[in-house]
Amino acid sequence: MLRQFRPQRSLAKQPISRLLAAWQEPSRSYSIHANAASTAKIQDIDPSKLTITKTKAPKELIPASELVFGRSFTDHMLSIEWTASEGWLAPRITPYQNLSLDPASCVFHYAFECFEGMKAYKDSNGKVRLFRPTKNMERMNKSSARIALPTFDQAAMIKLISQFSQMEERFIPSTKGYSLYLRPTMIGTQKTLGVGPPGSALLYVIASPVGPYYPTGFKAISLEATNYAVRAWPGGVGDKKLGANYAPCIVPQLEAAKRGFHQNLWLFGEEEFVTEVGTMNMFAAIKNKETGQKELITAPLDGTILEGVTRDCVLSLAREKLVPEGWKVLERKYTMKELSEAAQEGRLLEAFGAGTAAIVSPIRNICWKGDMVDCGLRPEEEAGELASKMKNWIEARQYGDEEHEWSYTVPE
Ligand SMILES: Cc1ncc(COP(=O)(O)O)c(C=O)c1O
Repeated sequence: MLRQFRPQRSLAKQPISRLLAAWQEPSRSYSIHANAASTAKIQDIDPSKLTITKTKAPKELIPASELVFGRSFTDHMLSIEWTASEGWLAPRITPYQNLSLDPASCVFHYAFECFEGMKAYKDSNGKVRLFRPTKNMERMNKSSARIALPTFDQAAMIKLISQFSQMEERFIPSTKGYSLYLRPTMIGTQKTLGVGPPGSALLYVIASPVGPYYPTGFKAISLEATNYAVRAWPGGVGDKKLGANYAPCIVPQLEAAKRGFHQNLWLFGEEEFVTEVGTMNMFAAIKNKETGQKELITAPLDGTILEGVTRDCVLSLAREKLVPEGWKVLERKYTMKELSEAAQEGRLLEAFGAGTAAIVSPIRNICWKGDMVDCGLRPEEEAGELASKMKNWIEARQYGDEEHEWSYTVPE
């Protein structure tokens, strides 16, 4: 049943002409800005109210070589409850445990859920570092606001995540390539089948020790371009990290896997614009047909593309290090036809996906309408020059080998 919303009384009483005058043309046609949907906050997250209950049964560490992404978790979890009347309640770190939720909780029925994916690293001095946590917190606030969940003070949340990561420090292997994957999650917990804004929510963070995505070095992937389903669309929510965006992507991925491909490539529209690869942003390095200039291209943030933190790193590093070498860096729409033509003419230098899990994932080829588009790697090569450089540049900042503002050292 649809819950009814009463218009704000102050608005309802106003003459139509005043209401129309107050209505403003949205500045961007196909996106809802975070603050447009955000809930009024009564009390924000207060890290000074944190209570800690330590586990009495510390887990045995799994040998680093046996770690599987997202399968094992640390000893504790961080949780903060929110109610519409009180705001954010006192944060708690407790032993990792099951949640107890009413079967009518709105998360189960209407997908009030958003999440983040970020990592804590251990540097050569044994210090714990978060990588660009502000970016993840900003994105989480945009996601939560879009589905009428509460927003929060980003600095307060980073402080709590830092404390939590420091507490779980023994789970972060010191070896390069290993890290602690952090999963901040927010769910609507109100017990109601009425469709409306949740009156209560839970924000929690769990952590999973993870190994390198490519333990034996890069492995280039083969993609199938999906042209019978789309991941995101203008005016939709593909630029938000909502759980509801992910479940519908699994079947096309299974279909691609059935035909022997590692991942699927998401296209959009009759023009077959290239958007994202699986759960990564997509980059293509192409030699311009007219000028011969080398260009690094990725799709623009038009509301259908997730604002990847790694995407932002790749773009910043490319502008910093490749532009002086004569490269052009472009955020623009490009089509599968353009990639295919560039490949046929020997102008497609390389292509790769970019995301927190793998950092960069080199692409060998893309199956498109029965043809195989070769992405420029030699048969004996598993990664192009650019993908390898990007991975090294980003890792140097993640592990603090290169001191940089992107890396946030957690206070002990
Ligand atoms: C759809 C999608 N695109 C891109 C990314 C990459 O984002 P990030 O670099 O922040 O991990 C993700 C990350 O999980 C994703 O789910």
